[in-house]
Amino acid sequence: MSSDPLLQPFQLRGLNLRNRLMSTAHEPAYTEDGMPKKRYRLYHAEKAKGGIALTMIGGSSVVAPDSPQAFGNILLYKDECVPWLKELADDVHDKGAAVMIQITHLGRRTSWSKDDWLPVIAPSSVREPAHRAFPKAMEDWDFARVIAAYADGAERVRAAGLDGLEFECYGHLIDQFWSPATNKRRDEYGGSLDNRLRFGLAVFEAARRRVGPDFLLGARLVCDEDWERGLSREEGLTIARRLTGSGLIDFLNVIRGHIDTEEGLAHVIPGMGERSAPHLDFAGEVRALTRLPTFHAARIQDVATARHAIESGKLDMVGMTRAHLADPHIALKVAEGREAAIRPCVGMGYCIDSIYSGQAVCIHNPATGREETIPHIVPRSDGPKRKVVVVGAGPGGLEAARVAGERGCDVVVLEAAAKPGGQIVLAAALKRRREILGIVDWRMRECERLGVAFRFNAFAEADDVRALEPDVVVIATGGAPNVEFLDSGAEFAVTSWDLLSGAARPSGEVIVYDDNGAHPGLTAAEFVAECGAKLEIVTPERILAPDVGGTSFPPYFRAFSRADAKVTLNLRLESIARRGNRVVGLFHDEYGRRRVEKEADMIVVEHGALPVDDLYFELKPGSVNLGEVDYAALLKGRPQTLVNNASGGYRLFRIGDAVASRNIHAAVYDAIRLMKDI
Ligand SMILES: Cc1cc2nc3c(=O)[nH]c(=O)nc-3n(C[C@H](O)[C@H](O)[C@H](O)COP(=O)(O)O)c2cc1C
Ligand code: SF4
Repeated sequence: MSSDPLLQPFQLRGLNLRNRLMSTAHEPAYTEDGMPKKRYRLYHAEKAKGGIALTMIGGSSVVAPDSPQAFGNILLYKDECVPWLKELADDVHDKGAAVMIQITHLGRRTSWSKDDWLPVIAPSSVREPAHRAFPKAMEDWDFARVIAAYADGAERVRAAGLDGLEFECYGHLIDQFWSPATNKRRDEYGGSLDNRLRFGLAVFEAARRRVGPDFLLGARLVCDEDWERGLSREEGLTIARRLTGSGLIDFLNVIRGHIDTEEGLAHVIPGMGERSAPHLDFAGEVRALTRLPTFHAARIQDVATARHAIESGKLDMVGMTRAHLADPHIALKVAEGREAAIRPCVGMGYCIDSIYSGQAVCIHNPATGREETIPHIVPRSDGPKRKVVVVGAGPGGLEAARVAGERGCDVVVLEAAAKPGGQIVLAAALKRRREILGIVDWRMRECERLGVAFRFNAFAEADDVRALEPDVVVIATGGAPNVEFLDSGAEFAVTSWDLLSGAARPSGEVIVYDDNGAHPGLTAAEFVAECGAKLEIVTPERILAPDVGGTSFPPYFRAFSRADAKVTLNLRLESIARRGNRVVGLFHDEYGRRRVEKEADMIVVEHGALPVDDLYFELKPGSVNLGEVDYAALLKGRPQTLVNNASGGYRLFRIGDAVASRNIHAAVYDAIRLMKDI
């Protein structure tokens, strides 16, 4: 048996966990009609297949209709969820892992204008800035029904055959009572800590009574809100200690921080550029104090840190939650001595940010949440060995090369630059975002293992590609900065690429014009701020960077605040002119129906990229499919078999920004969808 601390089993009362790796609760918004159906099940079953010991499903599964979905949560208050949960639990169990669920009443952390349009409740009428509902202060008849709803939810979980559940007690209803920031009551539920604890303890007691002494109940517990208005460390630790030996709670899952604002949440779920495992020592203190089995997750994204967390006795179970979104097979790879093959979580936060606009997707693992159509392990083809030429070594091109390599193809990548990465290299110019290079490095390692050949400094012409006699050509040539939207003066614009590549150095007064709305504009702006220039960000949008999600924008805004940057909304750049050794931007204010001039030393423009597609169009007439993608087949996960030109010599695909300005996820998803069956 392995001596790796991470691979040692853990006995949680009657439950044997096969190792120390877990995925903590996170709602991926994969529910359909509020139920954890096939997509949800396959997602968790994949982690079980990958060797994880425990998967905690259903982030914030809601126990009552006045806690409507905030982000696709499981509707645990409906009896119909039981068979779905059972099917999921059976599948996960069959693959050797344990499965629990997190249950909650969101309290004020949701919206009244959803589902049943019931008023949102909270201990007091204090609005949560993040979800923005004005709640009703709970009245007498709310207490009994919500406590009963928790117990009903717990009973459904037990009936479905899960191994246990945890109560969500950070930022949700139970701890909204604990926190002085949200509990302003003057009755027996407010004031002293005993009073503030009354509701939560009543919930735990009711659930325990309903499920009996043997069913595992835990609490994901805030033990310090780290906030002058909030629950102090002292009171948080007192709560944790009181639960020890109470018979109510079998394990703790430690949280530090508060999540009522996006800045607060970004510290509880730290992303790219933040220090590794910032709350691990604190979780270790809680474990030492309570002697309860202790779980914890917060940016423990690599195996070495996870191993340290167990070996040093700080945790019993280590949460690697986003790490499993990036690679669900971590335990298996550790057990097989293939740690270097683990696809790294680079902390981009795209997964959590996307649950508010759609479903959780990992920025660089397109198979996550799409297990039904996209494989995590691409099988080797049993057909003839194909020759694949990929032009471009950005994320899309590298993914195409990797997947073709997994299929057993003979793969050549032609890249005009001296090194791989494309626009990722530009993003990494901002030191804080350097970790993004993990997306490139992992693919380069995998390509090396698979024998993919690379030719750098190779600007490919059509004849170069044809000379290689390919069966499949993938055009992943990316884009070039778009300044064509300007009526005049494009030559005076500095692009965000010029800036991040070091071709232009910002100084004096710099305007960053962001008409992209995603990371590139904010990255350019932070880069300017870090260089010490006086920064003004101008955007035609009504908010800054609408496509940068809740956990990702806080570090940018911290930098803008440090630099005392100015933000101007609702101005659309039309042209740039030179004035002496300065530049002048002419903007249109559509609401005020006026033109606005702004003078600066530099105007940096970010307006996405225009596709670099000449090579694609040159190669198109000679291809079998004339470049066409069969969308019906693509969406069903079937192979591409269109023949539009029987005399064509190769199948031709164009992916990523070479099609249109998009992002890393779009590029790698394009790539694997088209290449997984060749
Ligand atoms: C998509 C997503 C949704 C999440 N939803 C929840 C949730 O509903 N309840 C919860 O307690 N934590 C939630 N989390 C937080 C995770 O459980 C975990 O604490 C966080 O991702 C930090 O751990 P990590 O660095 O290992 O990812 C969510 C995380 C992600 C990525
Ligand atoms: S999107 Fe980013 S943070 Fe989320 S799992 Fe993928 S790499 Fe990690």
